[in-house]
Amino acid sequence: MKLWEGRFAAPTAADADKFNESLSFDKKLYKADITASLAHSEMLGRCNIISEEDKTAIQEGLKSVLSDIESGKLEIAGQEDIHSFVENELVSRIGDAGKRLHTARSRNDQVATDFRLYARASAAEILRLLKELISTLVGLSEKNVRHIMPGYTHLRKAQPINCAQYFNAYGEMFLRDAQRFSDTYKRIDVMPLGSGALAGTSYPIDREITRTLLGFSAMSQNSLDAVSDRDFAAEYLFDCSLVMAHLSRLCEDTILYTSTEFGFWEMPDAYSTGSSIMPQKKNPDICELVRGKTGRVYGHLTALLTTIKGVPLAYNKDLQEDKEGFFDAEKTIKDCLSIYSEMLKAITLNVKRMEEAAAEDFTCATDVADYLAKRGVPFRTAHGVVGKIVRYCLEKDKTLNTLTLEEYKAHSEVFTEDILSVVSARASADARNSVGGSSTAAAKAGIKSLKARLRKLPSYEL
Ligand code: ARG
Repeated sequence: MKLWEGRFAAPTAADADKFNESLSFDKKLYKADITASLAHSEMLGRCNIISEEDKTAIQEGLKSVLSDIESGKLEIAGQEDIHSFVENELVSRIGDAGKRLHTARSRNDQVATDFRLYARASAAEILRLLKELISTLVGLSEKNVRHIMPGYTHLRKAQPINCAQYFNAYGEMFLRDAQRFSDTYKRIDVMPLGSGALAGTSYPIDREITRTLLGFSAMSQNSLDAVSDRDFAAEYLFDCSLVMAHLSRLCEDTILYTSTEFGFWEMPDAYSTGSSIMPQKKNPDICELVRGKTGRVYGHLTALLTTIKGVPLAYNKDLQEDKEGFFDAEKTIKDCLSIYSEMLKAITLNVKRMEEAAAEDFTCATDVADYLAKRGVPFRTAHGVVGKIVRYCLEKDKTLNTLTLEEYKAHSEVFTEDILSVVSARASADARNSVGGSSTAAAKAGIKSLKARLRKLPSYEL
């Protein structure tokens, strides 16, 4: 039975029903819907809008519907949406008392409330997964703080860096993501229930009762806005998009670093795949899939932003389009965060290869220029001198640490014996001791700082 069929002389066409329905996807909200209805009926009872007996019957009925859904006894099907399903099921179980549940309520404030309850728990879970990933990254930093690797710009070797500084960089990205989710959580955590269809209600309701029962930190302050506001979902999708951007960058690094061309990391067999034709292949499909799934999450953000931009005040059915993308983004980001944490824990580092690579391709050239500049040569002049030294090395097939002092001196009189201790990858990384830099001390401080900020992140009760 439709909640609104009284007005109509003829039934809706089968294809219209099929097109209009949302039960096939909003059934995910069954628990939130029943939770919100339990709170709503409690408030109606306490405010004497329904009788004590009706309230008790409604609540017993709702609880039996919930337990039958959870035990698999009751299949969610056959109605327009989850709100219609729960109400119809309730009425079929308890009769007229069930028909009083929708007093002082509309599906418009109901769906906004259900969706916020769902999104709130989801944001809390994503925050937990992000914390786990940050801990994994910090663990890798702690394990590798003695090791160095090449740092890249333009995907060309640039300067040697500390391995811990590398993992800390991703730690910083995901920490910002976690902070963003905890900030978004606060804006999700606002109760729209009591806004009615759009204009509020003439019943003597007490929104403070439902707010407290549902554990919302605040209640909406404008009923028109409350029923049509999906900013929280757009924000959630933006937060997901940025997490996916960061994961996708990490995927890109993982794919490169585990290739034989780089040979820095070894991909665990448990997270690799093979080829049906090339017996030797060990492919990084998991990383490629995470990178590939980034697109669909961005797509869901763009879709929702586009959907809400044309919606006149207040509720319009366009807003039903808010859920499928949200659920898909939620599943995608949870899967990607979980699998990446597990895979990273199993990755092994070829520290010898990384250290060798850190010294290749003149990565200490900046240190040589800095050496001259620190002894009075203007930096731009020093840059030019070292550029010529690099060219000389390329012609003579030499490296900065195989040049003799005489060869250095031929380029500038300022060089003395100690230049030879400057041109080592480890010395180069350790020389950059500025806050956030590549030295071992700076990387250790980076770990400490990340851990402190990780501890400060809230953890919300689910
Ligand atoms: N299925 C609807 C949605 O998800 C529920 C609200 C319907 N409200 C209405 N006035 N038709 O948005």
